[in-house]
Amino acid sequence: MPDKNSSRARKGLIMIRKRTSVLRISVFLLIVLAIWFTLSSALVGRTAKGPDASTSDRRSEGLAAWRQIYSVLTSPRCINCHTATNYPQQGDDRHRHFANAIRGPEGKGAPGLNCVSCHQTENADSTGVPGGHNWHGHNWHLAPLSMRWQDTNDHILSSAAVCRAVTDRTKNNALDGPGLLKHHEEEPLVLWAWNPGRRPDGTARSLPPLTHAEFVAATRRWVDAGMPCPKGR
Ligand code: HEC
Ligand code: HEC
Repeated sequence: MPDKNSSRARKGLIMIRKRTSVLRISVFLLIVLAIWFTLSSALVGRTAKGPDASTSDRRSEGLAAWRQIYSVLTSPRCINCHTATNYPQQGDDRHRHFANAIRGPEGKGAPGLNCVSCHQTENADSTGVPGGHNWHGHNWHLAPLSMRWQDTNDHILSSAAVCRAVTDRTKNNALDGPGLLKHHEEEPLVLWAWNPGRRPDGTARSLPPLTHAEFVAATRRWVDAGMPCPKGR
């Protein structure tokens, strides 16, 4: 019987050897796979990012451009005309317009005291009255309430809320992306903000936080990115 036993033992040994070599091969394959996987994902990460990554990159670049746009829209030179109240505002502290100037029909002032009674088509630096007209030739007037970027307590609306208003074509004269870009590039009332003239005390009015060229470039990047808006209220 020793012979039978030893041959069984030999068979057993062979089986174990086979198994260990199978095990070794699979471990080896696993390691190769793991290395290949890490290398390839690192390479992919460095070269072309997947479709998801590039969409979110585009969105975050668009949102960064929007933050720049928002800083201009909500600066005093712009937002003093984009109020929610029945009056325009003045100065860097955005105080209520003097002489009780009120919005009136179409934002052009009260009958008898229209904006144009005082505001000409050019800045009147000797008196400190700013002036200008929009590109439809309409004189100096307030933006319609649908284009307000403040609440009725004169608090500036959030970035998300202003973005929604600006991109809502029922509220913005049906401007699409290229229309908004053109508005920012060429609308005379927008350009006025970079040439706002002198205050009644003779000092120069302050300018928006970006140059006009930077503002237009930011608008172009935002429009190219699909005009993303921040989430939230
Ligand atoms: C003198 C008042 C006045 C000033 C200053 C002014 N706006 Fe406006 N804005 C208007 C009026 C009025 C409209 C409505 C369209 C029209 O009548 O031209 C308007 C419309 C707009 C619109 C399109 C509507 C929307 O909500 O999408 C944008 C964008 C805009 N203004 C941006 C600006 C920016 C940017 C500035 C400053 C750089 C600025 N405005 C300064 C009066 C003004
Ligand atoms: C009685 C004359 C008068 C009338 C009427 C008048 N304004 Fe003015 N407005 C002025 C003067 C003067 C200033 C300059 C005040 C200052 O800078 O301290 C001014 C400044 C402003 C400014 C501030 C510019 C800035 O960014 O600081 C805005 C906006 C404005 N007016 C809009 C209007 C609108 C819109 C109307 C009509 C609804 C109107 N005004 C009616 C005389 C008038």
